[in-house]
Amino acid sequence: MTVIAAEADLYLDLLKKVVTNMIYEDQTNVAGLITSSSYSAELRSVGEDFPRVAHSMVGLKRLDNLQKCLEDVLRDGVPGDFAETGVWRGGACIFARGVFRAHGVRDRKVWVADSFQGFPKTTEDDHQLDVDIDLGQYNDVLSIPVDVETVKGNFARYGLLDDQVRFLPGWFKDTMPTAPIERLAVLRLDGDSYAATREVLTNLYHKVSDGGYVIVDDYCIPACRQAVHEFRDEHGITDEIHQIDRQGSYWRRSS
Ligand SMILES: C[S@@+](CC[C@H](N)C(=O)[O-])C[C@H]1O[C@@H](n2cnc3c(N)ncnc32)[C@H](O)[C@@H]1O
Repeated sequence: MTVIAAEADLYLDLLKKVVTNMIYEDQTNVAGLITSSSYSAELRSVGEDFPRVAHSMVGLKRLDNLQKCLEDVLRDGVPGDFAETGVWRGGACIFARGVFRAHGVRDRKVWVADSFQGFPKTTEDDHQLDVDIDLGQYNDVLSIPVDVETVKGNFARYGLLDDQVRFLPGWFKDTMPTAPIERLAVLRLDGDSYAATREVLTNLYHKVSDGGYVIVDDYCIPACRQAVHEFRDEHGITDEIHQIDRQGSYWRRSS
């Protein structure tokens, strides 16, 4: 890894502001706890709104965490790629590709996994838990379905679409078991539901290197948290869980 220059750090700071659109300050969709469409820097910085235009909804704080995790694994020589499961318009993956670019990393991929048609529509019978809800009802109100060509186009606008970026289109239940990923240094889960979280952990966790990171964007959602803890208990995982902000948490895999 090359030592990051001040210019590269500036590039990454600007990239975070652009993918969250804290530059042009687009309005938010009104849903959930959001009752006004007005832009709020406070909410955007912690990923608590639903941007109409920005390429990521995770906010600056969770992008800072992603940068820290990626730079830790580069510094410590932890082998593997980056994958995000649940990418929406692609902003967090675009940022991850930017981190690799800024550090001159050419041998690690960014895996971009999504249905590219939003949350699955589910019925009550599909839910394995009382705490699981039908996220499909939010697809339209949150502008969630984003097709793969649009996401590729978003990468291209930043000059970051190349053969280090790989797309895994489809439902996680279908794509995760056969994903051609060999090893991961950072796995970022952002599919919100119990099922999405279980499907990803079940199929990808064993590919995360020792010293790698698992980031759970939706740890605040009871169904997601339950999926995480069931999986950790079943596999005897006791690595400490650290909170990023109100929504997201992560742990570093010790073995
Ligand atoms: C909250 S958004 C992700 C936000 C994104 N990480 C960002 O940077 O803004 C959740 C995404 O997960 C995807 N998703 C949810 N459940 C899924 C499933 N079972 N299979 C595939 N994609 C799924 C949705 O299509 C949506 O794009």
